[in-house]
Amino acid sequence: MIVIKVCFVLIFLISFSKTDNCNLPNELVTEIRGYKDTVNKIIDAVTNGKYKGQTYKELATFVDKFGARQAGSDVLEDSIDYLLELLPSKGYDLESVHGENVTIPHWVRGVESGQMIKPRMADIPVLALGGSISTKETGIEADAVVFRNFDELEAQSASVQGKIVIFNNDFKSYGISVAYRSQGPIRAAKYGAVAVLVRSVTPFSMNTLHTGQTQYDKNVTKIPAASITVEHAHLFQRYQDRNETIRLKLILQSTLLNDSLSRNTVAEVKGSKTPEKVVLVSGHLDSWDVGVGAMDDGGGAFISWYSLVVLKGLGLRPKRTVRSVLWTAEENGLIGVQEYNNAHEHELDNFVFVMESDEGTFTPLGLNYVAGTTGGCILEEILKLLSPINAATAKRSEEGGVGSDITIWKDVIPTGSLLNDNGKYFWFHHTNADTMDVLDPNALDKATALWASVAYVIADLNDDFPRSFARADGNIQTVIPFFLLYLSIMLVSVLL
Ligand SMILES: *[C@@H]1O[C@H](CO)[C@@H](O)[C@H](O)[C@H]1NC(C)=O
Ligand SMILES: *[C@@H]1O[C@H](CO)[C@@H](O)[C@H](O)[C@H]1NC(C)=O
Ligand SMILES: *[C@@H]1O[C@H](CO)[C@@H](O)[C@H](O)[C@H]1NC(C)=O
Ligand SMILES: *[C@@H]1O[C@H](CO)[C@@H](O)[C@H](O)[C@H]1NC(C)=O
Ligand SMILES: [Zn+2]
Repeated sequence: MIVIKVCFVLIFLISFSKTDNCNLPNELVTEIRGYKDTVNKIIDAVTNGKYKGQTYKELATFVDKFGARQAGSDVLEDSIDYLLELLPSKGYDLESVHGENVTIPHWVRGVESGQMIKPRMADIPVLALGGSISTKETGIEADAVVFRNFDELEAQSASVQGKIVIFNNDFKSYGISVAYRSQGPIRAAKYGAVAVLVRSVTPFSMNTLHTGQTQYDKNVTKIPAASITVEHAHLFQRYQDRNETIRLKLILQSTLLNDSLSRNTVAEVKGSKTPEKVVLVSGHLDSWDVGVGAMDDGGGAFISWYSLVVLKGLGLRPKRTVRSVLWTAEENGLIGVQEYNNAHEHELDNFVFVMESDEGTFTPLGLNYVAGTTGGCILEEILKLLSPINAATAKRSEEGGVGSDITIWKDVIPTGSLLNDNGKYFWFHHTNADTMDVLDPNALDKATALWASVAYVIADLNDDFPRSFARADGNIQTVIPFFLLYLSIMLVSVLL
């Protein structure tokens, strides 16, 4: 009896929670299913035909030629020039290819080293966080204190003055742990820390250092900041747990040069009916200075422009424009997209759907999206067309939006990012191991096919993709019978 009652209470609660029952008009469902042959043609051309292996080949050529493409570097600008020449050329044939100016920061890593002095002498690998200030040339030497999280820091803030603060935050998710990288220097400097070492933000380590942008606050003294490996964070934690004094020497040299000029890289397949309406696909072209940015975000950038090559090559010109934008200076705080947002304010009403891939291009599974109930149902129906490559999942993103650059539009324009088998993404993220070896030609082909298909169908549907973020509420009709059943069972159980 109890079990049955619990079941009905659960059913009752589930029925009342927000549901997204899809009740798309039949004509719309039929219209979307009508793209089956077109999507199959795209899939076939990219996974078997003419374009097989080409996304990987293009990316490898690019990455091998330019290597790391840090914001502010000449090599990033050279790589942009290369694409501006390549994309409109014969065989690629993309339209409206151009760069759009963006002023970006220019931070350059210098000499860096770490030494442990107590409890024993050893070299400690360190990698300055992006934007970090320098120590003085001779370095700084100080005792260190280790905190697992900000709560521990707050509770023991009196112990921080004059020390090097080490944050040893267990990786639960990138979203949680990255706060120690971005906010660590501010939080520690508030209590008089002289430098910060942050455990690399990763679920897995083979003594790997991960960099990434850090932040300062005008109100708080800027202190040098670097990452250490997970292994060294654990080591320092063990010393501290045994009450052994940790003493470190750090040399971190870097230079913040004048802002420099970069560009977002734009290419299009112009719409045949309403070219002013835009479906945008994107990734970012800049990378950190370690590794070569093959995964972050070469893969995302290359499936974006290459999916346009595929559409153009197959003679698939949708009603609306499909635009590829390769953002600059994402790593420094979404600089390129913000400038683009300002420059295109007049046009944003015409952006019907915006996509970015910046969480890996491993085997694609579908699309992660932010949209209302109707939009979600449309995406579900479109993604069904991708079942031949097992990438038919449409997954609503419940918090924070999708992608990186395009999060700035999460409350304004419906957005989608590549849902992929990216469990290892943060193993390589912002490390020397971000190389072509992370990427797989077949996975990239499927990602390109998915990207091209989704962008094409949304750009070609008769009606604009719905802007509304409204979510349908639980359907009261489905709840009433369960509620009545629940009441009668309660009644029977009381009478018995
Ligand atoms: C972009 O910057 C270049 C170099 O300074 C300049 O020549 C060009 O006019 C700029 N373009 C626009 C649209 O401002
Ligand atoms: C910084 O100081 C200003 C002026 O005292 C204050 O208004 C602001 O809230 C402070 N910012 C932070 C992040 O504490
Ligand atoms: C370390 O010091 C603290 C505080 O003095 C003490 O409570 C703890 O037992 C000590 N731990 C070890 C392993 O000695
Ligand atoms: C940086 O900008 C300042 C002010 O415009 C200028 O005087 C200086 O020469 C620039 N430095 C470099 C390295 O270009
Ligand atoms: Zn990225």
